[in-house]
Amino acid sequence: MLANSGITWDDSRMSCFSTVVITGASSGFGKAFAYRVAEFWSRQSRAKDTRFVLIARSEDKLQALADELIGRYGCEVLVWPCDLADAAARSELQQKLSALQSEWMMLINNAGLGDYGEFCTSEPERNRRMIEVNMTALVEITRTMLPAMQAAKNGYILNVASLAADIAIPDFAMYAASKAFVASFSEALRIELGKTQVHVTAVCPGPSHTGFGDVARRTGKSKKEVPFRKWFYTSVECVVDSAFRAVLANTPRCYPSLKIRLVGLFVRNSPLWLLRLIMSSRPRKAVPAE
Ligand SMILES: NC(=O)c1ccc[n+]([C@@H]2O[C@H](COP(=O)([O-])OP(=O)(O)OC[C@H]3O[C@@H](n4cnc5c(N)ncnc54)[C@H](OP(=O)(O)O)[C@@H]3O)[C@@H](O)[C@H]2O)c1
Repeated sequence: MLANSGITWDDSRMSCFSTVVITGASSGFGKAFAYRVAEFWSRQSRAKDTRFVLIARSEDKLQALADELIGRYGCEVLVWPCDLADAAARSELQQKLSALQSEWMMLINNAGLGDYGEFCTSEPERNRRMIEVNMTALVEITRTMLPAMQAAKNGYILNVASLAADIAIPDFAMYAASKAFVASFSEALRIELGKTQVHVTAVCPGPSHTGFGDVARRTGKSKKEVPFRKWFYTSVECVVDSAFRAVLANTPRCYPSLKIRLVGLFVRNSPLWLLRLIMSSRPRKAVPAE
């Protein structure tokens, strides 16, 4: 038994593996999650029994991360490049994922993107990709991996939602809606799986300095900064550490850092009319549609 971790591991089965599947592992939170989990297993002297499956489009970045994880911790690493917005690529990925078996399994549904600007000027193709990556891929991968997790009786699903899951955000309309989906789906799934040994946690970070802002920013007229105050940012380390602790403690939802927890608490306890008033008087930096 691993002390205070909520994880059981039969010491007599030395050959068993833990498997950690991370989507969006090529940068930001996903990459930091890989190091965090590897460090955890390394402290338990189990890093060599741990297999990572790294998923994103950028094969070179995934390979560089894999080399580091192998060199530093001696983990086994599978690099599976995949465009999660592509149905055929997802189908191929699901086939590979369904063959994975392990004694302890963790799925970190982290890949995601935003689109900052008014909905009426959004690109339909970008909207489609956001839906596919933020929601469809998350659902399909979870559905694919659940049987093996249930068989292992030791499964952990961490869904990366956002503070945006709790409030409709003008200029981030589709993104916030997609994260509301992730949070709602996670809550229901957690209850459905309540009597099994598969646990579901949703993490709802506030803004953080990753590649997210650059991807969300539109080219052309709305190149200005995504409008968050500096004090509002949370470090990547804090997000990843809080989320991983929440998983180990089997916490349903995690708001990394006190300020984000307080904002989340305020938003969830405010009437809709007040939130509408706040969001419609909020300064907007996106260049409005002409
Ligand atoms: N940073 C924030 O302020 C913030 C706040 C709340 C929630 N979040 C959420 O945190 C998660 C991670 O984002 P991040 O902040 O770490 O941003 P990031 O640095 O841009 O990372 C996004 C990851 O998603 C992957 N990805 C994007 N599109 C993909 C596609 N079509 N197929 C496969 N992988 C794809 C990217 O890899 P490739 O480009 O290599 O494919 C990258 O690894 C997202 O779900 C985001 O919504 C972020």
